[in-house]
Amino acid sequence: MVKPTQQVMRLGFGFAVSQALRVIIELGIPDLLAAGKSSVAELAAATRSNADALYRVMRLLAAEGVFREVLPRHFELTEMGTVLRSDRPGPRDFIHMINSEAYLAFGQLMHSVHTGKPAFDKVFGSPRFDWLSEHPEQAALFQRAMVALSQGSNEAVADAYDFRPFTRVVDLGGGHGQLLAEILVRNLHLSGVLFDLPSGVAAAQQGAGGHLPRTEFVAGDFFESVPIGDVYVVKKVIHDWDDERAKAILRNCRKAMLPGGKVLVAETLVPSGDEPDQIKQIDVVMLAVTGGLERTKAQYASLLDAAGLKLERVIPTRGPISILEASAV
Ligand SMILES: C[S@@+](CC[C@H](N)C(=O)[O-])C[C@H]1O[C@@H](n2cnc3c(N)ncnc32)[C@H](O)[C@@H]1O
Repeated sequence: MVKPTQQVMRLGFGFAVSQALRVIIELGIPDLLAAGKSSVAELAAATRSNADALYRVMRLLAAEGVFREVLPRHFELTEMGTVLRSDRPGPRDFIHMINSEAYLAFGQLMHSVHTGKPAFDKVFGSPRFDWLSEHPEQAALFQRAMVALSQGSNEAVADAYDFRPFTRVVDLGGGHGQLLAEILVRNLHLSGVLFDLPSGVAAAQQGAGGHLPRTEFVAGDFFESVPIGDVYVVKKVIHDWDDERAKAILRNCRKAMLPGGKVLVAETLVPSGDEPDQIKQIDVVMLAVTGGLERTKAQYASLLDAAGLKLERVIPTRGPISILEASAV
């Protein structure tokens, strides 16, 4: 039986595993192993790495089930490692992104706990999305990471909601545009608006989230104003912001929406109880990185209420994400 000391030590070493994963993703090791096993010497030569150091990192990840050491210093991918290949849909870009700037911000998590403010701003000198606007490469990785994180959930949202009564859907903070693409392909009567910061719009225009027919691409700032539409999808956006900022976005939807319109906040609700749930990890990431938070149904209801919107119903999807449907009060 694993002793409490061992369990807690394992938790305490979490950073070693997450950073090792980032390194092998950045080096492209899973792709180099796509054809089958390889020696560390070959992998090190192909990635211009130190073979002994790379071996130690791969041995750690083999112990976590990512690789299998089939012969001394020869590795192959396990099933888990295979999802890190670049030709497979999976969390690869998300793991890369979250272990980059977000990881550095996490070094100052105590600052967030003392102040309630995002450590990211202290470490990088500007808020997360402002910083991304000035770093196009990282912004592009961020958008790919959002696609990776959304595996299955965009389809689940598009399937779960009846868009037939509407004509113009605005994907607010839609980034890469994958959700909008899934909605438009199922609803040929709809036109779409992809609204995001310039970096998000650029990703969508380059096809990061798929083909976007009948779509107007609008770069802007949702704290200033949002385009007119009769249904707004706001997926994984409200969780980026504290209550004041979140209310400002929702109020702008309320102002711009056509009569009879709806706002669909698509988020993962924080469950009660102590069960492990990834949303609790993402919540603390939000605390340190953007200053946002994950919320319960009651918290979303009061946020919507303060923005002049009424939570009509919570529509479950087949994924962990729910649709909170709101209309004007
Ligand atoms: C967490 S991502 C969610 C992206 C997408 N909706 C999804 O579910 O994958 C948040 C999005 O909000 C966008 N964003 C951040 N600040 C914004 C602002 N002030 N105005 C418009 N979009 C913004 C980001 O560029 C990013 O694409």
